[in-house]
Amino acid sequence: MRNIFIKISAIFLAISLSACNRADSIDITSQSQISESSSVSSTSQGNDNSSNISGDDADSNILIAYFTWADNAHVEEPDKVDIDATTSASVLVPGNAAKIADWIHRETGGDLFSIIVTEPYSSDYNECLDRAADEKAKNARPQLAEHIDDMEKYDIVFLGFPNWWYTVPMAIHTFLEEYDFSGKTIIPFVTHGTGGLASTITDIKADLPKDVTLLDPIGVYRPEVDSSHDNVIEWLKTLDILKEDL
Ligand SMILES: Cc1cc2nc3c(=O)[nH]c(=O)nc-3n(C[C@H](O)[C@H](O)[C@H](O)COP(=O)(O)O)c2cc1C
Repeated sequence: MRNIFIKISAIFLAISLSACNRADSIDITSQSQISESSSVSSTSQGNDNSSNISGDDADSNILIAYFTWADNAHVEEPDKVDIDATTSASVLVPGNAAKIADWIHRETGGDLFSIIVTEPYSSDYNECLDRAADEKAKNARPQLAEHIDDMEKYDIVFLGFPNWWYTVPMAIHTFLEEYDFSGKTIIPFVTHGTGGLASTITDIKADLPKDVTLLDPIGVYRPEVDSSHDNVIEWLKTLDILKEDL
């Protein structure tokens, strides 16, 4: 009897360790950076498919488009998500990319657009990881729920996303392939774990026409997102294209 108990305990331990190692390997562990003070007008939790383009500046030529897990996951009961749990925090709105999008928007005006897939990702971190890995392996193009009617009016497109499996979430490819970005200026902002920007910028470059101007991105390390507001503003000020306006 005792031997059986020891064997069962060993199996449980092995399963737990393997789960931990998997999460650690791409540094997607504890995320306690949810800000109560942030006022991002993000899409509602639960993947509401109502129009998600917002802005008060009809004549602006600036678009701030971003993908964030929190806008792309269905959370049944947000109040019950334990934000101290190892892997759950960033599933709550506003997501990291959404926070940075909001700061940019406050400085530059223009329109905000949350890139949302038709099939929400799981709010379970490991399940989300699995689907993202599968989509990357298949070079998938997840379908998007919302579209921009008048992309031609934008000359400057900020494009925000997290590093997912060392590259962009595959929905970013769907987004970039949907519109003609010829002649536009694209300014990426990336949130990430210890993996940094990895191949995100190289990979979006491959989607873009040659005459796109791709400006230097900002990368923000996940645990530093909430304290990075001033850095984001300083980065914006270095962008020649915005200097006259800021
Ligand atoms: C599916 C998935 C894959 C990830 N892969 C990586 C990775 O390869 N490298 C890394 O540094 N961070 C990785 N992360 C961590 C995210 O980049 C990080 O938590 C980011 O701040 C999330 O931004 P968001 O809240 O806007 O979605 C991953 C997160 C998820 C959900």
